[in-house]
Amino acid sequence: MNKVHVAATSPFPIGLQLSKADGVYFYDTSGRAYFDFTSGIAVNNLGHRHPAVVEAIKKQADIHLHGMVYGEFEEHPQVRLAATLCSVLPESLDTVYFCTSGGEAVEGAMKLAKRYTGRTEICYFKGSYHGSTHGALSIMGSEVYKQAYRPLLPDTRMLPYNNFEALKLITHSTAGVVVEVVQAASGVTLANEEWLRALRQRCTETDTLLIFDEIQTGYGRTGKLFAFEHYGVVPDVLLLAKAMGGGVPIGAFIAQHDVMNVLSEQPILGHINTFGGNALACAAAQATLDTFIAQPELYTTAARKAEQIIEAFTHPKLTHFTHKGLMMAAHFETKAAAYAFMRRSLENGVVLIGYLFNETAVRFAPPLTISVDQIEAACASMRR
Ligand SMILES: Cc1ncc(COP(=O)(O)O)c(C=O)c1O
Repeated sequence: MNKVHVAATSPFPIGLQLSKADGVYFYDTSGRAYFDFTSGIAVNNLGHRHPAVVEAIKKQADIHLHGMVYGEFEEHPQVRLAATLCSVLPESLDTVYFCTSGGEAVEGAMKLAKRYTGRTEICYFKGSYHGSTHGALSIMGSEVYKQAYRPLLPDTRMLPYNNFEALKLITHSTAGVVVEVVQAASGVTLANEEWLRALRQRCTETDTLLIFDEIQTGYGRTGKLFAFEHYGVVPDVLLLAKAMGGGVPIGAFIAQHDVMNVLSEQPILGHINTFGGNALACAAAQATLDTFIAQPELYTTAARKAEQIIEAFTHPKLTHFTHKGLMMAAHFETKAAAYAFMRRSLENGVVLIGYLFNETAVRFAPPLTISVDQIEAACASMRR
């Protein structure tokens, strides 16, 4: 196959020639199976081609696909999905804006914070990743990937993560604070519980919107449906994407009705898109969420499975793991050791990938559906 016309984003892609994916496995064009220890980067939490998701897509394909641009028509798949989502969220998160990616959810939330508060400053944290579009890039917590694209959005302020003192820099001029409850790109860094509560308090004191980016932690990855449930801290705006569609592109930002409503007036059409709330994507997302609701063991077993991986996997150059549920980073002594390990694991039938801002960390994030036996087999391959 000639891939010369497909844009590349790296000179050294994994390069697996994908022919099929099923459950926890990728298959290459020779028919060889590989364990997917990436979940396509936190997307395939239910495994590849979960039967409920596939069935829902087929059913919706027989009804309608694209109806109208987002919000103009009342489309049943959107209405139903929004209601189900709100039923599993705190009461204050009662209005869902559907979009097509994580980056767009971040953009929408930043605009919402500016409109709702009438302020312009957005705070974010060192080590955070919120997407690659210009707005999301402006609040990226690493200079390496930003510097070539300046000037970016003005009035953004980076704060140190888990630092109590820095919370004072959130003021009555701050429109919103965007934060990951568990930082992914830095190599799985957990928010300190007390700090997250203090952040909530500071945002309340200053009437600043607290925006949780759960685009990577969403839907069970950390052992709860949403990572914020571990902390008992409720955001003003919640961002979802990735695992939400069970393998189909969809995202959302979710807030209280009065907050969200500012996008519909003065001027109207404050944030619009073509494919947000697409019927096919909503049908896939409905089946995904329904499956999580019906089978909470999908995520309540994540911590136990992570322990199994930690016990089963040793390597002389592995220093430690950081993790919350099955959102895991294996930390190696050096970048060379981490890269060699990923390369050799691929040869041995396990697909791994690193973390954007941490070159000594390797992502361990299999589908939540992985069985105890499959974990044992994958760890044996990686040990080899
Ligand atoms: C925490 C987080 N936020 C936002 C994004 C951006 O999502 P997308 O790639 O769908 O634009 C990502 C993607 O990796 C992410 O991990």
